[in-house]
Amino acid sequence: MSDSEHTHWPVGERRSQADRRSGRERRSEAGWTAVPLDGRRAGSDALVAAARAARQHAQAPYSGFKVGAALEAADGTVVTGCNIENASYSLTICAERVALVKALSEGHTAFTRIAVVADTADPTPPCGPCRQLLWEYGGDLQVILANLGRVTGIHQMAELLPLPFDGRLLSRPDKR
Ligand code: THU
Repeated sequence: MSDSEHTHWPVGERRSQADRRSGRERRSEAGWTAVPLDGRRAGSDALVAAARAARQHAQAPYSGFKVGAALEAADGTVVTGCNIENASYSLTICAERVALVKALSEGHTAFTRIAVVADTADPTPPCGPCRQLLWEYGGDLQVILANLGRVTGIHQMAELLPLPFDGRLLSRPDKR
């Protein structure tokens, strides 16, 4: 990615620049399409293991609910995150968003899968705000949900966020 893509855009430019965001090349007229995986793709076991390890770093003194996430970039890089709570509660950042902002800030712009781990018998799916961000930056990711012992569910983002609001809806008619 060139430096110019990291500069701050004038407000009026943001909509057209939205097409540059990560995953753009995965977007077709019909919706999001998957990025082809290369040989460095980790097995889902490895991705889940990375999320379990990241969960150990969770800062969750208020809820006691530790979550770990491992986001796989299209080049095979795995970027992890954990939930970070604070005394104001509302500023809590979920594990998924921590992984996503870490990955974006390190220059990754296309993603294939995310594993999310919590110590629960039932699956712990991404919350609403995380779904929005994962969709916007990751497109139709595979979402692997797991607990400390097993995988509890596998979904696609399009299934978790079936009627999304995203940059396509912000396009100016004359720029479409
Ligand atoms: N949490 C996540 O990190 N990811 C999820 O998918 C669900 C919820 C965190 C936020 C908060 O720190 C704690 O779990 C309880 O909601």
